[in-house]
Amino acid sequence: MKQDILAKKLERINDLPGLPSVVFETIHLLDEPGITIERLISSIQLDQAIVSKLLRLVNSSFYGFQGKIGSLSQALVLLGFNAVRNAVLSISILDIFSGINKDRAFDPRLFWLHAIGTGVISRVIGRQLKYPRLENLFVAGLLHDIGKLVIIKLFPEDFLQILKEVKRRDISIIEGESAVLGINHTEIGHKMAENWRLPEEIQEAIALHHCPWNASENRAMSATVSLSDCLCRALDIGYGGDSLVPEIDPKAVTILGVEPLFIAGCLEEIDLEMERAKSFLAIFSED
Ligand SMILES: [Fe+2]
Ligand SMILES: [Fe+2]
Repeated sequence: MKQDILAKKLERINDLPGLPSVVFETIHLLDEPGITIERLISSIQLDQAIVSKLLRLVNSSFYGFQGKIGSLSQALVLLGFNAVRNAVLSISILDIFSGINKDRAFDPRLFWLHAIGTGVISRVIGRQLKYPRLENLFVAGLLHDIGKLVIIKLFPEDFLQILKEVKRRDISIIEGESAVLGINHTEIGHKMAENWRLPEEIQEAIALHHCPWNASENRAMSATVSLSDCLCRALDIGYGGDSLVPEIDPKAVTILGVEPLFIAGCLEEIDLEMERAKSFLAIFSED
């Protein structure tokens, strides 16, 4: 594809709806020292659609408080600032992409199942490794392939062409994207994450989940998401766009410093958490 056509296509990424201002404010308020619950509530409350979804989400089995959280302040106290911030973020991003319908070539439900699966597995691995920001790890896993949804939403014909190439040449979706578009979902996803001003380590994990050894900022997060992406495919959770199960990259395993048996030890917890996480998806299919 010629450079000028590619540049025009990339400009269209800026046409996608941005995150609501409440979400930006919430994300950045949390970086302020001495932020109070009252200040956060008054910011989030400006968007009642987000509040009602947030309450449904925090009362789902995903968080384990089924039906017990009645207000925003209770959610903040019980879940903590970070979990609420990331719930607000996830809700808004899922909303931006909620209009994509299922068709013969693509089932958005299976895409989200892959995304949630990668988020859940990332969090389980992170917990085992005593990673300090588990909620960021979940969001990085949830959004790692968001560039694919941008392609589907903005360039549906190219996406069909990509799927055809993937099938015809038995290649991975990332190779198909580069062949058809001249750019792949990690580059597009990174651009989105920058536009949304997500935390640096999440931006980097989205950009580098296929080559975590190139990370400079937080290699452990990129490597965890990369490993979780492979595991999610190997465990047949959802669908990532091609049927190839990538081999677990030994470099990703080395970055994390884990033994081969480590993964087997995570499987039971992944199974358990995945059951609960399906409620996350159910909330967004209700609309
Ligand atoms: Fe990917
Ligand atoms: Fe993936």
